[in-house]
Amino acid sequence: MENTISSLQQEINDFEFIAPADLEAFRLRYTVRKGLIAALFSQLKSVDPAEKPRIGHLLNELKRTADAKLSDAEQKLAPIKIDSNKRIDLTLPGRRYFTGSEHPVQKVLGEMKKIFSDMGFSIATGPELELDHFNFDMLNFPPDHPARDMQDTFFITDGNLESDVLLRTHTSPVQVRVMLDQKPPIRVICPGKVYRNEAISARSYCVFHQLEGLYIDKNVSFADLKATIYSFARQMFGADVKLRFRPSFFPFTEPSAEVDVTCYLCGGKGCRVCKKSGWLEIMGCGMVHPNVMRNCGIDPETWSGYAFGMGVDRTVLLRYKIDDIRLLFENDLRMLRQFTV
Ligand code: DAH
Repeated sequence: MENTISSLQQEINDFEFIAPADLEAFRLRYTVRKGLIAALFSQLKSVDPAEKPRIGHLLNELKRTADAKLSDAEQKLAPIKIDSNKRIDLTLPGRRYFTGSEHPVQKVLGEMKKIFSDMGFSIATGPELELDHFNFDMLNFPPDHPARDMQDTFFITDGNLESDVLLRTHTSPVQVRVMLDQKPPIRVICPGKVYRNEAISARSYCVFHQLEGLYIDKNVSFADLKATIYSFARQMFGADVKLRFRPSFFPFTEPSAEVDVTCYLCGGKGCRVCKKSGWLEIMGCGMVHPNVMRNCGIDPETWSGYAFGMGVDRTVLLRYKIDDIRLLFENDLRMLRQFTV
């Protein structure tokens, strides 16, 4: 009996009211005087007296849920009554629906991801709340490196206690997580938000986006890195773009470089945006430092690799001629609606 009740309960729960005819079907099967529930009630007299109160309770419960489901559906499916005294103005314009749109940052990130995935990179992500260990130590930052400074990094404290948790200052710790997790060859990009404790202005904000890249294989050289970046830049900024690799320093790459592209507003002639230089910096890059590989259990004698990390937001600002980075993070609908397609 108990099994019958529970399978009936299941059947009732699963019943879907779609058309008004379903109301009648439901009523006839379950709730009328000759329906399935009433039939169970009539079997109640043959139940063991000790079990009767419990089974009776279950049955009442079944009846109550069936009635409630039916009356709920009756309200929803009841035909709309048109009051013939009130006239409907068929000439009224319809209501416009607001369709959401992709945020400009996501549009640009989407293009970048497409370019790299066409080149065989897959996508990896990591947490924005990161361990100091992954954000700095594993990337070969010495203990007293200035980038760890309170002025740059948002550390998460527990009351007054210092903790080893911070808001990641770059997407490079995702490289570490990937290297600990996967065996070479590795070819990933890691897009995401990063945080820095900087003075907020039209040009810099405490949150921004980066896209990191990592390639580890046998015999990877700086020439491979250059070819990849060239291919990316041509697809992203146009076939005539020129690149400039300047020597630089990052603790996690050796040698390291910063990459400039010809300013795509003035085409390299010099303008306000490129501060008359004709060049815009787009990323840092280099060959993965042997210490970083060793930290992650990858033998630098066998494997080599390159890495790069580029800023996303400036490309967004230039592409859409937005003159204040804060607009990208304030979610003002008047701004976002301009990107509805
Ligand atoms: N993480 C660096 C930054 O935020 C950017 C960077 C430079 C990433 C060189 C890299 C790299 O992967 O190889 O300034």
